[in-house]
Amino acid sequence: MGVPLFDTDTPLAPLREELTAKVTEVINGGRFILGPEVSAFETELAEYVGVGHALGVGNGTDALAIALRALGIEAGDPVIVPALTFYATAEAVAAIGARPVFADVDPSTRNLSVDTVAAALKREPQAKAIITVDLFGLPAPSPAIKREFSLPVIEDAAQAIGASLDGVKAGALADIATFSFYPSKNLGAFGDGGAVLTDDPELAATVKALRFHGSRDKQSFELVGYNSRLDEIQAAVLRILLRQLDGWAEGRRRAAASYRDRGIGRYVGIAPEREGTLPAWHLYVVTHPQADAVIQQLNDAGIQARAYYRTPLHRQPAMAPYVPPGLELPITDELARTIIALPISPVLSTAQAQQVVDVLAEASLGVAEPKASNPAGS
Ligand SMILES: Cc1ncc(COP(=O)(O)O)c(C=O)c1O
Repeated sequence: MGVPLFDTDTPLAPLREELTAKVTEVINGGRFILGPEVSAFETELAEYVGVGHALGVGNGTDALAIALRALGIEAGDPVIVPALTFYATAEAVAAIGARPVFADVDPSTRNLSVDTVAAALKREPQAKAIITVDLFGLPAPSPAIKREFSLPVIEDAAQAIGASLDGVKAGALADIATFSFYPSKNLGAFGDGGAVLTDDPELAATVKALRFHGSRDKQSFELVGYNSRLDEIQAAVLRILLRQLDGWAEGRRRAAASYRDRGIGRYVGIAPEREGTLPAWHLYVVTHPQADAVIQQLNDAGIQARAYYRTPLHRQPAMAPYVPPGLELPITDELARTIIALPISPVLSTAQAQQVVDVLAEASLGVAEPKASNPAGS
C-alpha cells in the first residue's frame, strides 16, 4: 500500500454531506460575493486566531500584496524576506513594485531569526518591512524579530494555521498576517482563498478597501486596489472546516510524534521541537545529504516524497534583478539541496509512519549517512 504525501480526502469524508448541503444552501441563497458567510467566517477566524480583525481575500499571494500595501510599502522599498519559502512570498513584494531582500535562515528552524534578519539589514539598512514565514508550519520568531528591529513585520502564516508560539496562535504573531486556503493547506477551501489578519483597526480598514478596488464605500475610489475577495461558497466551506482544524492539527502532531518515536532522527535530519512551540506540520520536512537518491527510493517503495524547495528564491530566474552580485546564503543553499518532504496528514497511521521510517533506514544503507555537521541535522 502506498503512502500519499497529503491525504485531504479521508479527513473530509465524514463532512461531505454537510458540506454539500451548505454549498447548495449558498447557491439557493443567491449571494456569492461579500455576503453573510464571508462575514461570519471572518468573525470566527479572528476569534480562533485571537486577533481583532480577519478579512477574506482571493488567495494567500494577494493577501501578502494587500498587507504590504496596507502598511504603506511603496515601489522601490526594500522588504526583507527569507530565501527559503514558497515563491509567492517574494513575488508579492515584487508585484507591488517593492524590492525583495533575501535573508538566510536558521539551520534548525529553517525560518528567519533575529541574527539572519540583522545580517540582511546590514546589507540593506533602508529596509522598510520584514516578512517572516512560518515555514512548513513551524512558527518563525516574529515577536522577537519585532522587538529587535523597529520595522513593521508581516507574518506569512500560509502554512501554519493551527500552530502557536508561547501560547499565541500563528496569524497573531506580528503586525499583520496572511493565510492561504489553497486546497492542500491545513485549512483548505474547495478553490482559492486567503485572509489578512491584524489587531490594528486602521490597517484592517485599509485592507478592506484594498480588496475592493481601493474603495471604502463603493462610490469613491481612494486607492488603486485589487479585486480580491473570498467568495461566499469558499467561506461557507471554510466555516465548517475551521471547526475541525484543532482536531486535524492534533492528528498532524501525532503523526510527527509517530515518526520521531520510530527513530526517524537516526536516518535524516529533523527540526528540533522547542518548548513553547506547537507546529502545524503542514509539511514534514527532513534533510539528507543525498536527498534526491532518498526521494527516489521512497517513491520506488510507493511513498510519495518531494523536494520543497529545491531552488531557493535568490536562485529563481525572475528574482535575478533583486540579487546583489556575490550574495551568499549558505544555510538556505544547504537546506534547499538536502530537503525532503515526507507524507503527513491528520490521518497518517502508525503503520504508514513505520513504512516510511523502514524505507529511510534501508535507504540510508545505500547512500551517505547524514553528517553530524549537517547544519540541518540534529
Ligand atoms: C509560504 C506561502 N506563502 C504564500 C503562499 C501563497 O498562497 P496562495 O497559493 O493561496 O496564493 C503559499 C502557498 O501557496 C505559501 O506556502
